[in-house]
Amino acid sequence: MRQQESKVARVTLAVVVVVLACMAGGAEGLAYDLRDDPSLYNIGVGIYDVTGPAAGVNMMGYANPAQVNSGIHMRLFSRAFILDDTQRRLVFVSVDCGMMGSLIKTKVLEKLRTEYGDMYTAANVILSGTHTHSGPAGFLQHLLFDITSLGFIWQTFDAMVEGIFQSIKEAHNSVVPGYIYLSSGEILDASINRSPTSYVTNPAEELARYSYDTDKTMTLLRLEAQDGTPLGMVNWFAVHPTSMNNTNTLISGDNKGYASQLFEEVMNPGAMPGKGKFVAAFAQSNCGDVSPNIQGARCIDTGLPCDLATSTCDGKVQNCIASGPGKDMMESTKIIGTRQFAKAVELYSDPNAMRVSGPVHYAQQFIDMSNYRVNLKDGTEVFTCLPALGYSFAAGTIDGPGAFDFTQGTTEGNPFWDIVSGLLHKPSEEQVACHAPKPILLDTGELNKPYPWHPRIMDTQMGLVGQLAILPVPGEFTTMCGRRFREKVASVLAAAGMEDVVPVLAGLSNEYSHYITTWEEYQMQRYEAASTIFGPHTCAAYIQQYVHLAQSILNGTEMPPGRSPPDLSSSVLSLLPGVLFDRAPLFSDFGDVVAQPYPLAYTGETVTAKFVSGHPRNDVQLDKTFLTVERLVNSSDVWEIVATDANWETRFIWDRVSLLLGTSLATVKWDIPHDTPEGTYRITHSGHYKSFLFGVYPYSGVTESFQVMARPDTTLLEYAEVPQQSNSGSALHKPWLSFGF
Ligand SMILES: *[C@@H]1O[C@H](CO)[C@@H](O)[C@H](O)[C@H]1NC(C)=O
Ligand SMILES: *[C@@H]1O[C@H](CO)[C@@H](O)[C@H](O)[C@H]1NC(C)=O
Ligand SMILES: *[C@@H]1O[C@H](CO)[C@@H](O)[C@H](O)[C@H]1NC(C)=O
Repeated sequence: MRQQESKVARVTLAVVVVVLACMAGGAEGLAYDLRDDPSLYNIGVGIYDVTGPAAGVNMMGYANPAQVNSGIHMRLFSRAFILDDTQRRLVFVSVDCGMMGSLIKTKVLEKLRTEYGDMYTAANVILSGTHTHSGPAGFLQHLLFDITSLGFIWQTFDAMVEGIFQSIKEAHNSVVPGYIYLSSGEILDASINRSPTSYVTNPAEELARYSYDTDKTMTLLRLEAQDGTPLGMVNWFAVHPTSMNNTNTLISGDNKGYASQLFEEVMNPGAMPGKGKFVAAFAQSNCGDVSPNIQGARCIDTGLPCDLATSTCDGKVQNCIASGPGKDMMESTKIIGTRQFAKAVELYSDPNAMRVSGPVHYAQQFIDMSNYRVNLKDGTEVFTCLPALGYSFAAGTIDGPGAFDFTQGTTEGNPFWDIVSGLLHKPSEEQVACHAPKPILLDTGELNKPYPWHPRIMDTQMGLVGQLAILPVPGEFTTMCGRRFREKVASVLAAAGMEDVVPVLAGLSNEYSHYITTWEEYQMQRYEAASTIFGPHTCAAYIQQYVHLAQSILNGTEMPPGRSPPDLSSSVLSLLPGVLFDRAPLFSDFGDVVAQPYPLAYTGETVTAKFVSGHPRNDVQLDKTFLTVERLVNSSDVWEIVATDANWETRFIWDRVSLLLGTSLATVKWDIPHDTPEGTYRITHSGHYKSFLFGVYPYSGVTESFQVMARPDTTLLEYAEVPQQSNSGSALHKPWLSFGF
């Protein structure tokens, strides 16, 4: 059934591409001056790896110190889109990562400046995270975000900066004249509200205007060259990429990463993930209270529903976990990804899609969100607050409950926490009053030692491309806050004659400041409200600020730039120990195969091979791979790569066998797709080992070849087993500090 769904969508997409290309044939040879045709833009697309360290590093999202990565399921990519009307250029980048941070944007812009002068600036470059919870952590500069990863992780950060830069560069170099088509539609079966008791506290007349308690709309752009060549696709749909739960330790783009891979696979036949010309991004929107685990929360011990208001079982959060719709998290990722993919195919193929037309504009301003004056409707003036997190922040969510316990074992085994725990602060009276009714757990806004715990300067930005308004926001807006926000900005534009503007909220962009709920939801103090770090009026403040941005575009006046965010790169602490050394066991060498695949495998089965390996952190293999699956093209020893570590159907799993001896094993798994041609195959693994005294060296290994045959009957497993890694198992049961973003 599921496979059917995905297959139908893939075939549809392939057909549509051909039809669209034929239809567009007529335009060939028309030499438009871009300025004469307001619907003709200069369009560029680019994609590049941003994966970072594949093992031994905490994962970003659930903030569970026990969730340390141990390999790769899917590689992470940065997908860049340049939209330019010949006068002004806007860059939208969707990155498979937990969220965006200001230091990344700063460093990417520095690299762009070196190459392109002042063409790319904070104002016209939008960086947005997809919010996958299965990427390496340590790339945000403020202290709180790096506690569970034992500080800042330069390898994660450098891979992201380089990959984002390269993707923009590729987009820059690929610019051609083309058209943008906009379409939108609803996906009803890929998301639920995970804080419905907060949602319903919004005013009754407001609630009555909506059929659903999450936004079901996907807004999609089809990017096409003037001659009809497909260039790219980007869509925005609000759902947490938390189909993979906090026991996963393999790097993954989660449901959105999988959807991108499906789309790009069809559009770039034969190309490995990240290596095709066509780029398809599934970008994030106002996912604050939106879970993909659509079976909802249950007590995993008893199977009964959790207490709805508190998301607890027997008074505790740990066992109240949402899941579904699949039988395990891999299958759920696949299903939620496929549903987004299938809708994207439909919208990409929409014959009634609007051809976007009109100039490109943008506005941007850094603001101090810890002290923003908000004029409420009733005329009163209120302020946002210095950052602080409430108690429910520590409870986490049904997608990843926490166990934040300050009195029990909080300093155990985490040198980072040892340093910072002594610096915890009692909030001032003003702080308490400003955040009320939030009980303050972590008064981060008043904590600046050894360096600031939370950002205050927020990057606010808006891009207009014809009828499309992209609204990047530095955090996770809830459904209702997002609706108010989009509606208000659109109404300001409409009042100025731009009635047909389609506003999209691009979540987790440019900087990260946790959540933003409505004032009403804030009063409930569930997780999202406790994580609304600038206080009860944060949503209203953003609405007011983005109205200013819209007005400045309309007025043609430039906003003052505001105070730039700090660069803490010379202050950040990095306490994660480095790799000491690697050694191969006696009588063996790095790359040696210690477990060969069976000589014969049927499609639908999983092939496994094990290699003597070095630590993946010796080299992140950016834009490369730790493994290949290769097929013998003919008898002349020409091998063709059919999969890398980026593919869904492969898994690269790394285990340190002995820390003392420095030995480790790399396991490669390949779930043979059903449509794999019969033939002779082999698996390779490559990596780097670290010699105690002499540095880091590359190595590689190859298995013996094996035959793949089509299985005659089709009653096979559609999904291979869920990866369960040994190096993190026991720790998962005693998270001494665990919350989530
Ligand atoms: C994570 O998902 C797996 C199934 O893939 C399930 O067995 C496990 O209980 C889940 N754990 C948590 C903590 O969500
Ligand atoms: C734009 O113009 C409006 C109306 O003329 C004015 O109220 C507003 O302050 C201006 N805003 C900016 C940001 O220039
Ligand atoms: C084997 O395949 C390669 C690449 O497709 C081709 O160049 C070569 O001629 C083939 N050799 C034989 C013996 O078929």
